[in-house]
Amino acid sequence: METAALSPHCGVEVKGISLAEAQGKALDSIRDLIYRNGVAVFRDQEFSPEDHIAFARRWGGIDINNYFPLTDEHPEIAVVRKRKDQTTNIGGGWHTDHSYDQIPAMGSILVARELPPSGGDTLWAHMGAAYDTLPEETKKRIDGLSAFHTADHIYSPEGAYAQTDQGAELRGQDLKTGATHPVVIRHPHTGQKLLYVNPGFTINFVGQSREESLPLLQELFAHAMSPGLQCRLQWEPGTVAIWDNRTTWHYAMNDYQGYAREMHRITLSGEALAA
Ligand code: SIN
Repeated sequence: METAALSPHCGVEVKGISLAEAQGKALDSIRDLIYRNGVAVFRDQEFSPEDHIAFARRWGGIDINNYFPLTDEHPEIAVVRKRKDQTTNIGGGWHTDHSYDQIPAMGSILVARELPPSGGDTLWAHMGAAYDTLPEETKKRIDGLSAFHTADHIYSPEGAYAQTDQGAELRGQDLKTGATHPVVIRHPHTGQKLLYVNPGFTINFVGQSREESLPLLQELFAHAMSPGLQCRLQWEPGTVAIWDNRTTWHYAMNDYQGYAREMHRITLSGEALAA
């Protein structure tokens, strides 16, 4: 197994491994790479839906996504799709999947199934590097704070997606979500300090209103969006990406109007988060 960094702070490409067969020590090494680098990319994989599910089960538990369409044959697999006549994509803003759950998903395994001729890249940003590079004064201001996260403003009938051409395909629009997490968490496996707020789902600091919280939240978001903390993946047929939702944010580019893009996603179960 060989590795090459995708950027100075975020992401790694892993070569010389077939994910369909990875288990035991190879799987442990992959886990560790993802926990530390945030996202790992694997090219030229033969990875059927059955391989996708079997790999996820070897990793651990699977969280069934409540909102995106599921494949007919495999309810474990959520379909992240933009049809060629749709203008809105899924995930087209910086976010961390499932931070609105009290035990958020560990991460996701995303497989390219149909790609536009160009565009449709995915970006990740490393929240360990984001925390480490905050000014000391800001670190002191967020020390001990918790924040409230929800997805209701995104997925509910009045939410952001309902107003778009993605709305009709969403499930679970009547669900209510809400969770509180420390603003700075320790990675459950590496112990690294990570900034754990995101523009998609974090609403306010506990004990403060949205209005009171916004200036500091926006300062943290602007810092964490710095291009120097990011990596970018140009998908090809056979590409698989696996990321850690605690260590990263991600963003799906929507720059391929008139073409379809379809990805298969399995979400991996996580553990409770702590400061
Ligand atoms: C997502 O999980 O937010 C979608 C990522 C992508 O489609 O690139």
